[in-house]
Amino acid sequence: MEGFIRALPKIELHLHIEGTLEPEMMLELAKRNQVSIPYQTITDVHAAYAFSDLSAFYALYGLGVSVLKTEQDFYDLTWAYLKRCKEEHVLHTEISFDPQLHTRRGVEFGAVVNGICRALQEGCSTLEITSRLIMCFQRDLSQEEALETLQQTMPYKDSIIAVGLDSSEVGNPPEKFAQVFEKARQAGFLTVAHAGEDGPVDNIWHVLGKLQVARIDHGVRCTDDEKLVEHLVAAQIPLTVCPLSNVRLGVFAAMDEHNIADLLERGVCVTINSDDPAFFGGYMVDNFMAVANAFKLSKKDMARFSSNAIEASFLTSDEKEALH
Ligand code: HPA
Ligand code: ZN
Repeated sequence: MEGFIRALPKIELHLHIEGTLEPEMMLELAKRNQVSIPYQTITDVHAAYAFSDLSAFYALYGLGVSVLKTEQDFYDLTWAYLKRCKEEHVLHTEISFDPQLHTRRGVEFGAVVNGICRALQEGCSTLEITSRLIMCFQRDLSQEEALETLQQTMPYKDSIIAVGLDSSEVGNPPEKFAQVFEKARQAGFLTVAHAGEDGPVDNIWHVLGKLQVARIDHGVRCTDDEKLVEHLVAAQIPLTVCPLSNVRLGVFAAMDEHNIADLLERGVCVTINSDDPAFFGGYMVDNFMAVANAFKLSKKDMARFSSNAIEASFLTSDEKEALH
């Protein structure tokens, strides 16, 4: 199975570029940019990764990304991820970034986007990996701050296909961002949102109804509502599921308790993704392998995750056709 999964053409749709910051690069950039972080060695960084829920993870995440300062840093980060994609036979990737993590500490929005985009263009021309870029609002911040961030995004509209919504759902329901999502849609952005990860199933209904998302990031709590599962199947609304992330953050107690195999069997358009691979213990192949090992899934089932991802992507129909 491992050989089959390695060789399977894969598409990644749920990946936070900041979540690909490996301990080695964190220490290197801390030195290069003279940023003080409370870790001296890779062992120190690993020891700090003792989070078991989303809010503890998020605190560590914010601290780690403080080493990213210049356009070159964002280029280096993105390029390292794309090289990994090449090794793992990921042919297309839709990358999210969290500008508010950076602009709040004085990094220019343009430095973030330009660094990422330069690597994505090079990834296309030299590694033959296609990509799209998604700008995420942090739901723990205010809608006013999201509106400001949307304004900063406007000059880069041609480089960013969609806006998204991430960080902790608890206390931050989708409705809080209805206005900024409407503005984003009017400006021509597609929309996605995290929902039904650490928040209730109602959040999934609300990102569909109130934010009009094209697909749902995580969405695993959908099985709390039979009618919602039926709706997801009938309308073929994709879920970008992140198995290792879900177990690491306690959304499921163990991989064999995950509902991804059940969702696949029921005809939901589920996909496998890595979320924040440097923090959650694995990239695409690791996530596919974890699912294959936990459930009795055939090679044909595993290939379904890839064909679902092609359909769920923001590629044009010609590009989708070429990948199938
Ligand atoms: N969940 C919510 N927000 C996030 C995550 C996640 O796993 N990773 C980065 N932002
Ligand atoms: Zn995520």
